[in-house]
Amino acid sequence: MNTSSKILVTGGTGYIGSHTTVELIIQGYDVVIVDNLSNSELFILDRIEEITGVKPAFYDYDLTNRNQIRQIFSEHPDIKGIIHFAASKAVGESVEKPLLYYRNNLNSLINLLEEMQPAGISHFVFSSSCTVYGQPDKLPVTEHAPVKPALSPYGNTKKICEDILKDTIAGGKDINVEALRYFNPIGAHASGLIGELPRGIPNNLVPFITQTAIGIREELKVFGDDYNTPDGSCIRDYIHVVDLAKAHIVALRRMMARENKSKYEMFNLGTGNGYSVLEVIKSFEKVSGHQLNYKIVDRRPGDIEQIWADTTLANNELGWKAELGIDEMMRSSWEWEKKYRNASKKY
Ligand code: UD1
Repeated sequence: MNTSSKILVTGGTGYIGSHTTVELIIQGYDVVIVDNLSNSELFILDRIEEITGVKPAFYDYDLTNRNQIRQIFSEHPDIKGIIHFAASKAVGESVEKPLLYYRNNLNSLINLLEEMQPAGISHFVFSSSCTVYGQPDKLPVTEHAPVKPALSPYGNTKKICEDILKDTIAGGKDINVEALRYFNPIGAHASGLIGELPRGIPNNLVPFITQTAIGIREELKVFGDDYNTPDGSCIRDYIHVVDLAKAHIVALRRMMARENKSKYEMFNLGTGNGYSVLEVIKSFEKVSGHQLNYKIVDRRPGDIEQIWADTTLANNELGWKAELGIDEMMRSSWEWEKKYRNASKKY
């Protein structure tokens, strides 16, 4: 355990950020969160405190403002590493508002990189995505697979951010980077106190499933059953958000133990198993006891047919392996949805 390290978590009140903050605190790290609350809620800080007994320092700041980053670093000169989650992430919205996506996602990264070195910080974990692979030619997909042209401005920002990080190190900056390529994070903390909380109509499958089951949405639309897969629906590698959160701490510790302060690594974070949309629905129905109201509709433009991860590199190099299966992912998502909605009715 490293009890002395202070970590800046950007986007720490968001879905993956809040789960990672909880794991960091449990493992003895001191956490400072910066989040502009554009897609998350302040009460998540109280929930983090309820789970861990610790309320992290919090800044409602915007990373596109360099002065605000500088202020955080000057108030916390002992920050040793950054885990950078904060980003706009809705694929459809990015098509309508590309400049917003490029401005937010690229400027935030550049500002952090420019300010971290004068502040004496050399460790950086970046949230990347399997979206950089597009539809891979070979499955399961390894980190050596070619990066394909992005299908959306959002996807493009992930690719460009990876390039910015690589070029920054190649240009001689003494920083350590772990780029973590997430597959499809779902599930919620076992306490049911934090989980995915999309604003408005969810874009992603699992929040749409749980909101349909609880009665907020009328029916789930399954986008296509004529793909070249066993049951015709798309296949993804769903990973429990708590497994994903734990990988960040392992990656951070690996960098901090390293002598050489100028290295870029990337890892696939998935389970290595692919599930179709219809299999996800079946798992949900089994663990919840609810029959889900769904219908098959046309394909969603931009969806790839199937992808799942080769996780050998993360397993061998990080010594990390996802432990929780699809039923546990669906069970915890459902527990979170029920607990959150019941509490909201009360207040
Ligand atoms: C997308 C992004 C990914 C991002 C992730 C989480 C791409 C190509 N993918 O993944 O980078 O990390 O969101 O924000 O940019 N589905 C339905 N009905 C629904 C919703 C989804 O059938 O109402 C299906 C989709 O067709 C897909 C699967 O469920 O086959 C998963 O979709 P979704 O949860 O939106 O994630 P991705 O599109 O895989």
